[in-house]
Amino acid sequence: MKKIIISAIAKNNVIGKSSGEMSWHSKEEFSHFKSTTLGFPIIMGRKTFDSLGKPLKKRLNIVLTSNNKLINDFPEILTFDTLEKAYEFCIKENYEKIFIIGGSQIYNQAIKNADELIISYMKFSAEGDVFFPEIDHFVWEIKSIINKKEFDIYTYTRIL
Ligand SMILES: NC(=O)c1ccc[n+]([C@@H]2O[C@H](COP(=O)([O-])OP(=O)(O)OC[C@H]3O[C@@H](n4cnc5c(N)ncnc54)[C@H](OP(=O)(O)O)[C@@H]3O)[C@@H](O)[C@H]2O)c1
Repeated sequence: MKKIIISAIAKNNVIGKSSGEMSWHSKEEFSHFKSTTLGFPIIMGRKTFDSLGKPLKKRLNIVLTSNNKLINDFPEILTFDTLEKAYEFCIKENYEKIFIIGGSQIYNQAIKNADELIISYMKFSAEGDVFFPEIDHFVWEIKSIINKKEFDIYTYTRIL
């Protein structure tokens, strides 16, 4: 099962605000995110889920939290209290790939053994205090670059 991190990063490495607010809205980037992840499980941290407010449609939503009360409000969501348990579940269900969609806490854990990164580098800086972890270029190699109006999509594969 391929574990893919997907994120959008501003020029100053910001991905969001600790208040939970989004730092920007880009229809073009959201549409790329949607078409890439549709049909596959998406794994996110509880704070990212809170900022979305509801599950994203047509994808199995998996939320990492130490408090599984979430499940009472949204029965279609799965919760796990470790990333490993979420992976084990998806392997058991035979998913070909899964997407790790943030936020910073989850990216920091998942980047250690993810197989691929799909990063939208936004063409602007943004206000915020939540950041993407450093991408170690001894570990990650650029596989493709696609240029869009508001961002460039870099896909990296693990080489180490
Ligand atoms: N630009 C982007 O691509 C992008 C994507 C996603 C999110 N974001 C932004 O990122 C920000 C949120 O990121 P964040 O780092 O503050 O929070 P986060 O990673 O979304 O969520 C953190 C929460 O996840 C749970 N958690 C973390 N590790 C866990 C583990 N190993 N097992 C079980 N639960 C675990 C904990 O929930 P409990 O406290 O409930 O235990 C923790 O408080 C928001 O501003 C959001 O808008 C940006």
